[in-house]
Amino acid sequence: MDFEQYPDSRFRYLTRADVIEAARGVDIVDAVAEALVLHGEGRSILPEEAYLGWTTPDGAAARCLAMPGALLGDTRPVIGLKTINASLANPDRGIPRSQGFTLLLEPETARPVALMEAAYISAMRTAAVTALAARHLAVESPRTLALIGCGTLAQAHAALLLRSLPTVNEVVAYDITPGRAKTFLDFVTGLPDGEGVKVKAVDGARECVADADLVVPVTTVTEGYIEPDWLKPGTLVAHVSLDDLTEAAVLDADLVVVDDWGLVRDDPRRLLGRMHRAGTLLGPDGEPRSGVSRQPRARRIDATLGDIVTGRHPGRRNETDIVVSNPFGMSILDVAVADRVHAEAEARGIGSLLSL
Ligand SMILES: NC(=O)c1ccc[n+]([C@@H]2O[C@H](COP(=O)([O-])OP(=O)(O)OC[C@H]3O[C@@H](n4cnc5c(N)ncnc54)[C@H](O)[C@@H]3O)[C@@H](O)[C@H]2O)c1
Repeated sequence: MDFEQYPDSRFRYLTRADVIEAARGVDIVDAVAEALVLHGEGRSILPEEAYLGWTTPDGAAARCLAMPGALLGDTRPVIGLKTINASLANPDRGIPRSQGFTLLLEPETARPVALMEAAYISAMRTAAVTALAARHLAVESPRTLALIGCGTLAQAHAALLLRSLPTVNEVVAYDITPGRAKTFLDFVTGLPDGEGVKVKAVDGARECVADADLVVPVTTVTEGYIEPDWLKPGTLVAHVSLDDLTEAAVLDADLVVVDDWGLVRDDPRRLLGRMHRAGTLLGPDGEPRSGVSRQPRARRIDATLGDIVTGRHPGRRNETDIVVSNPFGMSILDVAVADRVHAEAEARGIGSLLSL
């Protein structure tokens, strides 16, 4: 077959700097809220993510995720794919733990129309989910934000949450790597919304969460350590790194919310998927996994974030409830934000037009 007979096909390429510049004109929380609503209404396509894990030649855990997704909005479908790859050894090399690309496809022809750096949007859309969870599920006027793990996601959360949750006036941070919490808190005080915010670095995770209204673990752990009695009444845990809570903390929570039950259910690696396989976590229908027996202390998933933002589920019942939001991470959020970033880049001529 002669590929040379086809006309030149062009797409827009956005570097990380281009993405950050174009994203200045985008309301990321609004894009994420709209995507959560569409998803809650069943107007999305969200296949299971592909996960490839390996050990690097120097012994670090590495992985590649491929996450396609589509949103079926009123005006036109938005279709794309995020691939994000990480090695745990990267921060010690002075490079980000995770990097990758997000691709947008033209709905009519399926041809690629944009390719952009993925990690910035990925971090910001994740922080936007936490902001929305906090808006709907935190106590009224949350004041203290605890961040466990002080890397890229912690920075994205601090930047976005201080802007969107103006009652937060204290940030407490802990990182297992010496010096990282202090560097992170310097970043927080330098933020435009960081002025007047009290910051505190502490020596352990328990101390970090003790007085927090909003707890955001953004570590790289694979085994839980946050016990139920560490959390004060009323705490919302945005369980971003997905493996920080112990099973008991999930079982004891008053409300457990996920972004997408199918993604959580089909994943064998993270805590909630493991609990489902062990019969201690039941789906929203109250049913255990097929072929698995329900354990005596099993609990049900209460709602999805889509149910919460559309008001189909009322959220917390009282101010002392401990609430867990477990955002597995949906490709449709990357695609939704990437689509708005692409539109802004097109309008302002940001990025480069390349040939396929
Ligand atoms: N749920 C989602 O949608 C979503 C999206 C993006 C990233 N993530 C997850 O967020 C996590 C953080 O990502 P990142 O890019 O900020 O990583 P990063 O490597 O930049 O930062 C992680 C930080 O956690 C610290 N840490 C590791 N173990 C710790 C422990 N036991 N206690 C305290 N600190 C500890 C590390 O020292 C490091 O500073 C990752 O697990 C990633 O997979 C989740």
